[in-house]
Amino acid sequence: MIRDYRDTDLEACRDLHVRLTEWHRKIYDSPGIGGDNPGLQFDEHLAKVGKERIWVAESTEGVVGMIGLQPGYGESALEIEPLVVAPGARGKGVGGALVQHVIEVVKDMGLRDLNVHVVGRNAEAIRFYHDIGFDVIGYVELMYDTSPLEKPLWRDGETVAGRRFRV
Ligand SMILES: CC(C)(COP(=O)(O)OP(=O)(O)OC[C@H]1O[C@@H](n2cnc3c(N)ncnc32)[C@H](O)[C@@H]1OP(=O)(O)O)[C@@H](O)C(=O)NCCC(=O)NCCS
Repeated sequence: MIRDYRDTDLEACRDLHVRLTEWHRKIYDSPGIGGDNPGLQFDEHLAKVGKERIWVAESTEGVVGMIGLQPGYGESALEIEPLVVAPGARGKGVGGALVQHVIEVVKDMGLRDLNVHVVGRNAEAIRFYHDIGFDVIGYVELMYDTSPLEKPLWRDGETVAGRRFRV
């Protein structure tokens, strides 16, 4: 079941935010991502967007996923931030249901675009969104890597516009 966020979901959503950070730490093999208390970043996000812009997925085991919306590019767009499903509940349609819910919210608001930023290395999430229908590249953020060549931060990853990019 997808429902509106309630104050009693705070701890569950903090925990989900930790799971989101853990995922990024894993894919970048970088334990420092998110700082010492990544759960509190949910509180900052809640204060920024308001609880009416956050929805949770609830199963018999409690809250297993959350999704938020924040202003996107331009006046007629919103952006998904964050989206996370509890590790044990992934691959069962929860993430898809959360995204479908906010697609309906955006349609009901009469807005034209729903965006999402995905880090370059999160190929699983890129495939997930593409399967749902996010098949438009709005912007591409490119980076110049100034780190010493003997210690590369990035690895070979994706082809965009016929060019190979590290992620
Ligand atoms: C990305 C994430 C939210 C997906 O949630 P999930 O509950 O595992 O996703 P679902 O079970 O709904 O989707 C799984 C599959 O169905 C597909 N799918 C989901 N909804 C779909 C739809 N409406 N139409 C077609 N395909 C769909 C997905 O592409 C995926 O395909 P696969 O089986 O080939 O892998 C979850 O894996 C997660 O929390 N990951 C870590 C955090 C993260 O990366 N967040 C996104 C940051 S931008």
